[in-house]
Amino acid sequence: MEKKNIDWSSLGFGYVKTDMRYVSNFKNGAWDDGCLTDQDTVTISECACVLQYAQTCFEGMKAYTTEDGHIVCFRPDLNAQRMANSCRRLKMPVFPEDRFVQAVVETVRANAQWVPPYGSGASLYVRPYMFGSDAIIGVKPANEYQFRVFVTPVGPYFKGGVKPLTVRISDLDRAAPRGTGHVKAGLNYAMSLYNIVDAHEQGYDENVYVDSATRTHIEETGGANIIFISGNKLVTPKSDTILPSITRRSLLHVAKEYLGLEVEERPVALSEIGDFTECGLCGTAAVISPVGTIVDHGKEIHYAGMGPTIQKLYDTLTGIQMGRLPAPEGWIQVIE
Ligand code: PLP
Ligand code: COI
Repeated sequence: MEKKNIDWSSLGFGYVKTDMRYVSNFKNGAWDDGCLTDQDTVTISECACVLQYAQTCFEGMKAYTTEDGHIVCFRPDLNAQRMANSCRRLKMPVFPEDRFVQAVVETVRANAQWVPPYGSGASLYVRPYMFGSDAIIGVKPANEYQFRVFVTPVGPYFKGGVKPLTVRISDLDRAAPRGTGHVKAGLNYAMSLYNIVDAHEQGYDENVYVDSATRTHIEETGGANIIFISGNKLVTPKSDTILPSITRRSLLHVAKEYLGLEVEERPVALSEIGDFTECGLCGTAAVISPVGTIVDHGKEIHYAGMGPTIQKLYDTLTGIQMGRLPAPEGWIQVIE
């Protein structure tokens, strides 16, 4: 199969229109059969619930070309599960988890020419999403919904590739106790836009959010969870108001079972972040992006950037994803 003529290694994290996407509609209480289409635009009511009240959620995962030339996707069943949770929290109908995985597989397969080649440093980002599509003016959930999946080839999420990031402790909050921080609702990202633009204007790569109730513990960044390293130990914040990152959950397993590290998932106090030697942001888009500096209101905390342990975690995780290392049972969905 011939690949598209793209300079894969110069791709950033942007949208490139690909050939096919998946669409299924929910109406009269049921999902239709769904299909692939080349239609990349969406036509909905001016009063659609998503436009008025932001009733939308999404997922993100990646497909890769492996060392031996297969196309695979990493743990799509967990994305299906998380999207089902997001839907329940937003009073949207769940798109059945097995159909979610099937839709991802079909969409990636239909765009096989867009899956970056092995070794190019790029991957195919897969974006499933759902929104309330019929006209709603009183505040209540929609009656009709659309579930879609599109794909786009991407390079590194942060400008400059694996250059260590400089991030700041944010003064604004992302999630409230008992709010929606633990689900992948579009609204969580809408309200972070002001803050990310401001962070960039001030010279920071990302915002690190602290818990909004006490402002004493580290939560996550706008688009990734956080891991810290100290000696032989990986420490990552445990909180009900952060997104349960599939990358982070996978890294905990990798750290323990592949690298023999000690693993702690627990509240991480702002006052202890100077005790760690390495820090990284982890997520589908971020993979593991090393942090060089956290700035806490003028106080700088420095880390090793791509230090030895973050490097090992990165090599092992991407080794599993790209077929260089054996994967735990069920982690790799072979597409073709
Ligand atoms: N936290 C936030 C706020 C995110 O947007 C993401 C991206 O999906 C993550 C964490 C990482 O989650 P995952 O590893 O499942 O991609
Ligand atoms: C992802 O990593 O899939 C995300 O959704 C993060 C987003 C900031 C691009």
